[in-house]
Amino acid sequence: MGRKGPRWLRDAVFYQIYPQSFYDSNGDGIGDIEGIIRKLDYIESLGANALWINPCFVSPFGDAGYDVSDYYKVDPRYGTNADLRRLFREAHAKGIRVCLDLVPGHTSTEHPWFKAACAAKRNKYSDWYVWTDSVWSWGGGMPTINGYSQRDGNYITNFFWFQPALNYGFAKRDPRRPWKLPVGHPAAMAVRREMRNVMRFWLDMGADGFRVDMAFSLIKEDPGHRETKKLWRGMRRMFDREYPEAILISEWSHASKAIPAGFHVDFMVQFGRSGYTSLFRKELGRCQNPPAGGDSFFSPNGKGNIREFMDIYLEEYRRTKRLGYISIPSGNHDVARLSVGKGMRDLELAFAFVMTMPGTPFIYYGDEIGMRYMKNLPSKEGGYYRTGARTPMQWTRGRNAGFSSARSADLYLPVDKRPGRPAVESQEKSSGSLLNKVRSLVALRHRTPALGADGDFLPLFAQARKYPLVYLRKSAGGKVLVAINPSARPAAATFSAKGLKLPGETLASKGKVLIRPKGSKAKIEMGGVSYGIFAV
Ligand code: NOJ
Ligand code: CA
Repeated sequence: MGRKGPRWLRDAVFYQIYPQSFYDSNGDGIGDIEGIIRKLDYIESLGANALWINPCFVSPFGDAGYDVSDYYKVDPRYGTNADLRRLFREAHAKGIRVCLDLVPGHTSTEHPWFKAACAAKRNKYSDWYVWTDSVWSWGGGMPTINGYSQRDGNYITNFFWFQPALNYGFAKRDPRRPWKLPVGHPAAMAVRREMRNVMRFWLDMGADGFRVDMAFSLIKEDPGHRETKKLWRGMRRMFDREYPEAILISEWSHASKAIPAGFHVDFMVQFGRSGYTSLFRKELGRCQNPPAGGDSFFSPNGKGNIREFMDIYLEEYRRTKRLGYISIPSGNHDVARLSVGKGMRDLELAFAFVMTMPGTPFIYYGDEIGMRYMKNLPSKEGGYYRTGARTPMQWTRGRNAGFSSARSADLYLPVDKRPGRPAVESQEKSSGSLLNKVRSLVALRHRTPALGADGDFLPLFAQARKYPLVYLRKSAGGKVLVAINPSARPAAATFSAKGLKLPGETLASKGKVLIRPKGSKAKIEMGGVSYGIFAV
């Protein structure tokens, strides 16, 4: 194990599974753990060698399982702990790692700890959540639910009203609000210990790590996240000591904070800064949090601006590349599908990008076949606009898209019934399908050291409002040049080509891509919607 964590991470390609929508093995209309086990061959065939499974623990499912009511038990709708143990075993037999989703910041209001905390009489759990000291004392800027129980106080929420914040303490004391307990308070320390136990429980059973929900949110009023970072550094020490093969992935979207805080991988996602959104999802308007507008770089209209991504990415990459990895996912359960506003060709380009960037790529289930976003579906389990990106995986052209044998009215969510909906079955048969293109790109990444997580990254042509995008990946094993033109119009660029063997050997391409060396420079000419990956 190096400073950047276990070796396997250097070549990891993750597949994210939203378990309720992946594959229903027993015909009750909802995906399950056994369903994931039955589809391991498919996951292997994609070249993915790691999984992230959204929360699968006991929950009333007000927020699709991000409202946990028992951290130590698989929800019966997905199966049993024994099923999950079997998934670990069978995945490992194929060389596939399995990461779970840890929600350390809040529980469900149905969690027994919270129910105990609601009692008027003080007990062991009274300070496990953040409560004000009277129902007449409000949260001082933090969202509270007021008058919920017999207890004379209001609780702080982290997300929806039924997700009370667990108490990890406040970094700053506030003499006017003594209910803001310090980080070292015995109750806050007990919560921390309990979360360690939760992690140990699943790691001992065979899990390979966790994606950590809202990792930045644990300690309240924590300027610069100083105390929150200390907390995670402590967790990382536990991993390094006790589970050196396991990893921590943060939902933080600020790698220069998350990675030095101990996370092995941080997602670059839609939070706050627009870097990630500007690649694929600017057109989405309100189907997004925060709402966006404008043109994405990967839209065929060719009006995007790669600097919106690159300026943030390069800064974060520079500050973290020796310590850990940034992940640019194809999507996730919180954003509209990658396919919005794009055709299959455009999607292939998006994957050419995702699979040739440094760090740890994540494929959101169904993106590899171009599953569509189902706009305006009634909200399911707190999904709201997110619901349309959570519909059942489309395996076949048959009934319920092969997801389940249940009556279609009993499905967790409706399957996409629109004509031309993509399916694994039909794409298997065509070498030019998105599925098979994604497979080739993943395979190319695995066999090309420069394309791995650690290969250096150097933009060669990445100018504001200009196409194409050209960059170099480099490792001791060689150099790879990647050129992508998502615009439907042809594009050309001149870039510095010192030390490159041009035009090089083509590793993958689509459309016209012509490279002409000119002294220490090179000129590239590209057709509309084209890309090329070259060993140089
Ligand atoms: C982030 C998760 O990805 C999202 O789905 C969830 O609703 C919130 N955190 C609250 O846990
Ligand atoms: Ca089922």
